[in-house]
Amino acid sequence: MSEIKKRLLSIIESPNHHTDTKLLKICQLLDQEIPYFNWTGFYFKNGDKEELILGPYVGAETDHKIIPFGKGICGQVAVSNETFVVPDVHEQENYLSCSIDTKAEIVVPIIKNGENIGQIDIDSHSLNPFTKEDREMLEWLCEEIAHIL
Ligand code: SME
Repeated sequence: MSEIKKRLLSIIESPNHHTDTKLLKICQLLDQEIPYFNWTGFYFKNGDKEELILGPYVGAETDHKIIPFGKGICGQVAVSNETFVVPDVHEQENYLSCSIDTKAEIVVPIIKNGENIGQIDIDSHSLNPFTKEDREMLEWLCEEIAHIL
């Protein structure tokens, strides 16, 4: 297991923190360790509503605290249940801009008991920065996080 996965797992399995603290620590670790992760945060399904609500995050404050299902990259992942890698956000029509510096984005759903309950969202200030390994690591992370939600 890679060093970063080990560190992520020790946050997830820590008995000393509440879930939101763990999620924030995960954002902080990813933000520190991966230089092209420039906004890292979680969105969750907002109760019974067809919308996402912003959870713990690290990065610039965003206007998008609530995102209707289907809107933007995040809203599309809420209905597709699949990872969405966007190498260049300017090529996307259905995109919600959070910062003028953002050039790329990756969103990975969190599936628990077959239900799409939320997602991790990462913005980058670099064009086409996300590797196959990043995607694999984030998909692994979302599976691990599902166990504590
Ligand atoms: N860009 C996202 C909105 C969330 S912010 O990036 C934090 C989207 O298109 O859904």
